[in-house]
Amino acid sequence: MSTGQDPQKFRGRGVGMSDSVTVNPVFARPGEATELPANRMPQEESLPETAYQIVHDEAMLDGNARLNLATFVGTWMDDQANRLYAEAADKNMIDKDEYPQTAAIETRCWTMLADLWNAPDPENAIGTSTIGSSEACMLGGLALKRRWQLARRAAGKPTDKPNLVMSSAVQVVWEKFCNYWEVEARYVPITEEHQQLDGHDLEKYVDENTIGVVAIMGVTYTGTYEPVADVAKKLDQIQADTGLDIPIHVDGASGAMIAPFCQPDLEWDFRLERVASINTSGHKYGLVYPGLGWVVWRHKELLPQELIFSVSYLGGNMPTFALNFSRPGAQVLLQYYMFLRLGFEGYQRVQQNSLDVAQFLAKEIAALGPFELWNDGSDIPVFAWRLKKGHTTNWSLYDLSDRLRARGWLVPAYPMPDDLTDVVVQRIVVRNGLSHDLAVALLKDLRTAVEFLDSLDGPLPHATQAHVQFHH
Ligand SMILES: Cc1ncc(COP(=O)(O)O)c(C=O)c1O
Repeated sequence: MSTGQDPQKFRGRGVGMSDSVTVNPVFARPGEATELPANRMPQEESLPETAYQIVHDEAMLDGNARLNLATFVGTWMDDQANRLYAEAADKNMIDKDEYPQTAAIETRCWTMLADLWNAPDPENAIGTSTIGSSEACMLGGLALKRRWQLARRAAGKPTDKPNLVMSSAVQVVWEKFCNYWEVEARYVPITEEHQQLDGHDLEKYVDENTIGVVAIMGVTYTGTYEPVADVAKKLDQIQADTGLDIPIHVDGASGAMIAPFCQPDLEWDFRLERVASINTSGHKYGLVYPGLGWVVWRHKELLPQELIFSVSYLGGNMPTFALNFSRPGAQVLLQYYMFLRLGFEGYQRVQQNSLDVAQFLAKEIAALGPFELWNDGSDIPVFAWRLKKGHTTNWSLYDLSDRLRARGWLVPAYPMPDDLTDVVVQRIVVRNGLSHDLAVALLKDLRTAVEFLDSLDGPLPHATQAHVQFHH
């Protein structure tokens, strides 16, 4: 069938990068170009409707976020939030002088978080919004490093060999932090006996050059909480034995917005004296669209003044501690909207619902037979499983992931970190929006996929290299 278009135009278009984009003839106006270069700025203008349609149509090819069970990041907000988002899309968070109300709301939000995380005096805490947990972790790590440097210099000791101690299952941001800021990363490997950082053997990893220990509330690989209180207790013991006073930064990217609501008795936050700072992602279980993180320090003295820049901008004098300069302010307003809209009880209800769905799914997946749960989704609403030893040599979790992908579900499989790299797990992140009904639909597809794979009478060819690339 002829498209009526010049077949020459399609030359050189492989499955990879195209060198041009075509305008759907339904939207092309008489005399308008029907093809635009993909990788060069077009020479001429397009009508706004045409440009919109091209971008809209291309973005449609992205995955369906509701079926993406790999991401922790919020993909849905209600109509009022969408209205606020559109109204505030032009606000630049750095223009605190021009947008003093947004700046005041930012302060209210992190003060609320300081309170939620049991800071002894939230008014004396200090915090900031960031573009996500990655920036928040960088700031938390930088404060640890600078405080250690100041103390070392004051004691006339060298500062050239800082190190940071954490589990081998940390999110990649901590690897980046150590690389970018020249801090030695000391990883405590996870094992079958010690599946997360729990204080075990910690004395072998810390020394006078340790700027801090990172504990994770919601390990990215599996969703489990690291027992921060046990880590703190071990550090207390180390201090009693050696005099080393080592602070903890809690990476609560996900868990810091679950634990306060659903496991209020668990002590992981500023109730533990040793916890100096905590980060979370507003855009994960904070229930806001992508582009928002938070970091809070227990009290102002923990954030060295010299890290705070006073920027003269638009006639004002503004203190900032951030890696970025300009960034969207709308997400901060959306966070405030969510805090007001849901309140403590609303967050509790929403998060508990996700936990219920996660535990339902975990139970059903365990009952299928071939799988062994790594955890059951009772910390954050995230859980992982592995294939039972000896179940089959015909297929792997990578194959199951591929079968589910063909039905639209993104359920990644990947190897665990050191010392468990021979263990492959598959993980589901339950977010608000993965309803019980969707979970039932997923289970149906999962059962069908398992039945198919179990019916194979020979092994599937494997191309596992492609899968190892999954980024946490
Ligand atoms: C434990 C942990 N820390 C940090 C991050 C990075 O967070 P963000 O994507 O908000 O930058 C993640 C993301 O998944 C995470 O799980």
